[in-house]
Amino acid sequence: MTNKSSLIVASTNKELELLLRSFSYGRFFVLCDSNTWRECFPLIASALSDRPCHIHIIPPGEIYKQTGTLLGILEEFASQGFQKSDLLVNLGGGTVSDIGGLAAALYQRGIPYINLPTTLLAMADAAHGGKTAVDFSGIKNLIGTFWFPQHTIVFPGFLKTLPQRELHAGYVEVLKQALLAGKQAWNKASKLAPEQLIENPEIIYEAARFKLRIVRQDPNDKGLRQVLNLGHTVGHAVEAWSLRHPEGPLLHGEAIALGMLAELRLSVSHAGLDESFAHLATKVFSKFLKPPIPSKADIEDLLQYMRYDKKNRAAAIHFSLLVKPGKALTGVSIGENKLRLALQETLSVIQHQ
Ligand SMILES: NC(=O)c1ccc[n+]([C@@H]2O[C@H](COP(=O)([O-])OP(=O)(O)OC[C@H]3O[C@@H](n4cnc5c(N)ncnc54)[C@H](O)[C@@H]3O)[C@@H](O)[C@H]2O)c1
Repeated sequence: MTNKSSLIVASTNKELELLLRSFSYGRFFVLCDSNTWRECFPLIASALSDRPCHIHIIPPGEIYKQTGTLLGILEEFASQGFQKSDLLVNLGGGTVSDIGGLAAALYQRGIPYINLPTTLLAMADAAHGGKTAVDFSGIKNLIGTFWFPQHTIVFPGFLKTLPQRELHAGYVEVLKQALLAGKQAWNKASKLAPEQLIENPEIIYEAARFKLRIVRQDPNDKGLRQVLNLGHTVGHAVEAWSLRHPEGPLLHGEAIALGMLAELRLSVSHAGLDESFAHLATKVFSKFLKPPIPSKADIEDLLQYMRYDKKNRAAAIHFSLLVKPGKALTGVSIGENKLRLALQETLSVIQHQ
């Protein structure tokens, strides 16, 4: 399937219901995890009540984003006689859309699906862009492909039941995207608390539209799309490090908040970002830091994780850095000594906050 996905906004339950009723597919196969089944499915149940619908519930969380769960979904497609004229509906966060999208890509060499994201992270980021995957052999997203949803429907009403920790972690990606989108988007998003989003859904829609704009220009992640990795070289290393920490693991967005602090610092030294702006942005991202925070003794571990980062070429560690709000550089190679120093400075600043 090519990158023809559309983003549809549903601001009320009624709009969501009318949208779902307007789809002219045979049957619906709704994939949810046990939490989104309990909290979110009731909000779409009436829209599906008068058409054939099969529901498949998987356990929640990243540890189930694996081949066993994927095979369970494929077996269910087969036993239900699911066909290309039917529609898979992924009702959940990034875990559900990643695994459901991959099942859709594989079954009968590709069937249509839509995403109904229920977390902030998925509304702003994961549900758009056609990257589908499961974790394998202890490595995140090792098995996957690009397979684009027909539509992604963003309905902020799902956020009412999202745990606060998930909401806050998701807001880090919203803020990162606002920084990349430009000064106006950043000014709006940085002044808001995540709890105010339901009354200010435009912030979510703007983040989603921004992601889709980038994806449309670079669907297969060959160049421009890499700007979205701002904060992620250090952030992914922190996320991996936290998996082994007794107080961990951190949620993705929590790790990216620390990654943003380090990479804003690197943006000043290596991309010419204005220092006073970096200071202000650092204050905003600092609000989303959560323990465990690495200490200086962990820096060598973090560097080791970064050496394995997928953006690296020719053994150097590469970054996407911010020049100014709305402008970023990709593929910036930074030597390990400079990186060590930036990490030391970042961790000192956090310690003294
Ligand atoms: N494909 C992409 O481009 C992309 C981008 C970013 C992240 N991801 C992937 O997304 C995954 C993380 O996704 P996530 O942060 O959305 O988390 P998630 O899907 O794991 O959901 C987090 C938790 O919130 C619960 N939940 C979801 N919506 C709820 C709601 N409305 N009310 C109550 N509980 C709810 C879930 O059951 C789960 O327990 C990771 O696997 C990551 O690799 C993919």
